[in-house]
Amino acid sequence: MARKRLVLKDPGRFSDPAGLTWDRYVAMQARERERYMAERAAIPQDALNYKTVSPLYLERAVDQFANNYYSELSATHYVATAAANAPFDELKKCCLFQLADEQRHLEMDREVFERAGIPERDWLPAWEAPGTTCRFFRHVLELEDTIEIVVKANFVAEGAAGPATFAVLADGAEARGDVFSAVNHRARIRDETRHISYARALVKALIEDDPGNLDVIQQWQDESLRLFTEVARGGERREWWEGFLDSYYKIALPLGLRPTPVSV
Ligand SMILES: [Fe+2]
Ligand SMILES: [Fe+2]
Repeated sequence: MARKRLVLKDPGRFSDPAGLTWDRYVAMQARERERYMAERAAIPQDALNYKTVSPLYLERAVDQFANNYYSELSATHYVATAAANAPFDELKKCCLFQLADEQRHLEMDREVFERAGIPERDWLPAWEAPGTTCRFFRHVLELEDTIEIVVKANFVAEGAAGPATFAVLADGAEARGDVFSAVNHRARIRDETRHISYARALVKALIEDDPGNLDVIQQWQDESLRLFTEVARGGERREWWEGFLDSYYKIALPLGLRPTPVSV
């Protein structure tokens, strides 16, 4: 079956909500970096090197570390594809700044794995195991159309795994003594918020351009959320899953989308 494609007939309907230029982007990331380095410097060495968490925590956290690391690694690939195939320059610019953000996140998550002393040969098997975000991201990595990538990965997945879920992850990690993960999760929240807002602006523009586009966006949402259900299966991540859907529906329902019928 051929994939459905959406076209924004009037690209003037879309503009970057953050109004970034190269200069503004670089200045903003320099400030963010300073803040991050200060927070990281405040973490005691033992905590930074995972000497203060329980062995059981580390054993269980490998899944979570893999979900973080491979989501970011996937993002550097699919956003590069989105930038390369972007149908107009304003959208291409948003994708390119996001690409730089995701590279930064990827390096933070690699450092977590390394400091926690988890051998690299264990990383990918942890992600490929059932119950992770692997199925969703492998799907996105097969896509070539910029608009489909941005709707599925930014609007749906980041919209869901947005500020609220990163806050849950940060608090959970901190409560178990994993201060480094907590600092990392909090550091990426602002970038992820920006990725969500340009995707939301794109979805809004698409619907205003042609209300018929809503059906395809609904279908992309349904496909995406279903690929995520296995992460919540078994009830272990109930709190995470509820926060995930809540965050997403907060931005999706006001645009006319309907909840996806899913069972976990
Ligand atoms: Fe990211
Ligand atoms: Fe992102």
